[in-house]
Amino acid sequence: MKQKIIILLGLMFLSGYVFSAMAQQRGKTLIVYFSESGNTRNMATIIRELTGADLVEIEMQNPYSDNYSTLLDEAERDLLANARPALRTHIENMDEYDTVFVGYPNWYAILPMPVYTFLESYNFDGKRIIPFCSHGNGMLGETVANICKSCPGADIREALSVTYSGGSSLRNEIQKWLTKHNLYNN
Ligand SMILES: Cc1cc2nc3c(=O)[nH]c(=O)nc-3n(C[C@H](O)[C@H](O)[C@H](O)COP(=O)(O)O)c2cc1C
Repeated sequence: MKQKIIILLGLMFLSGYVFSAMAQQRGKTLIVYFSESGNTRNMATIIRELTGADLVEIEMQNPYSDNYSTLLDEAERDLLANARPALRTHIENMDEYDTVFVGYPNWYAILPMPVYTFLESYNFDGKRIIPFCSHGNGMLGETVANICKSCPGADIREALSVTYSGGSSLRNEIQKWLTKHNLYNN
């Protein structure tokens, strides 16, 4: 009898532990992204559909030009100045999120400067950051290293990078990646 009680208590303890671990894993999730021509935005939209997470765009107070050659000049100007352009986006309840997907295009092999502004505006200590990136063949470049440097206390997980729009396999690729992270709500 005594043995049965001990086993029962052990099982109760174990299930409590498993439930709390699952609850921790399923804390609130946020998707933030910066996108100029829409490729990263499209990735973010699919991630939202497949996870049900909250979605926020990183918007600048003075957005870059819609004209491509002016955009290149402006982006290069901010890169060379190591600028932190002001953002219109502010997330009041960042404390509620324990997982943050951070999406961006690869610009000059590093993060676009507005993404630095965003990362440096919050405390990511103890949060899980999952990067995703659209690029023109430069893959992730230095971007994940940039995030690690800007958010030294965060737990940076495996990133997903796709070439430009990601083509017709994009949804599948995102689904597989989310499954690896245990974040696909099927
Ligand atoms: C200012 C600028 C710099 C870029 N630098 C790179 C680069 O270094 N390597 C690369 O692979 N692609 C580079 N690209 C291409 C973008 O990463 C690519 O077009 C991406 O799909 C854009 O994503 P978006 O539609 O979300 O803005 C650059 C694009 C721009 C506008």
